[in-house]
Amino acid sequence: MKIFLDTADLKVIKAWKETGLIDGVTTNPTHLSKAGGNPTKQVQAIAKLLPKGAISVEVTEKKPDAVYKQAKAIAKLARNIVVKIPCHSDYYEVIAKLVKENIKLNITLVFTLVQGLLMSKLGVQYISPFVGRLDDIDVDGVELLYNLRYMLDEYDYKTQLLAASIRGVRHLHEAIIAGADVATIPINVLEKSTHHLLTDQGMAKFDTDWKKLRIRKFP
Ligand code: E4P
Repeated sequence: MKIFLDTADLKVIKAWKETGLIDGVTTNPTHLSKAGGNPTKQVQAIAKLLPKGAISVEVTEKKPDAVYKQAKAIAKLARNIVVKIPCHSDYYEVIAKLVKENIKLNITLVFTLVQGLLMSKLGVQYISPFVGRLDDIDVDGVELLYNLRYMLDEYDYKTQLLAASIRGVRHLHEAIIAGADVATIPINVLEKSTHHLLTDQGMAKFDTDWKKLRIRKFP
């Protein structure tokens, strides 16, 4: 399973990159707005920081023609850019055209099984179901992950299932069990998921017991 960071914060990306665990980053207009500064430079800096990672960058234009042009321009920013396009019927033609031109796409704001199927049929690289935002409206976001996994396997689509809008540790666990190819994880969730009180306590206990031996050098 691939792990993407759901952020545009360079400091966070730099710190986690050193762990060797990070396979990419998903930015969105909200993340880039939070990061401030020049979004083009920010995106290029992220892409340079993780040259082997997939860096998702979302279109901000609205009209299909403008989205097409902007998607091509975004794709040119770096070799490892994946262009994010919202899963809206206005953009189906544009998406089909970009796929034919070998532009890697991450279709964002996926909320139904049918949306996921249509985009997989077009041959996009990733579909991003928003688990947390479905939960926000009392629809089971995790169930959508399971349904999309079933659909991708049943029809043998090559599109990767990218679990997005992960709001807590439970969502991440469910994404793993549902067989998501990728989870994009906000930093607070990643930090919570990787710490356990019993690990800390266990380390402290081993340390205390070890020191009782009063050995200076080992081995
Ligand atoms: C990532 O691709 C999405 O933009 C992100 O996961 C959305 O998360 P949110 O619903 O918590 O804003």
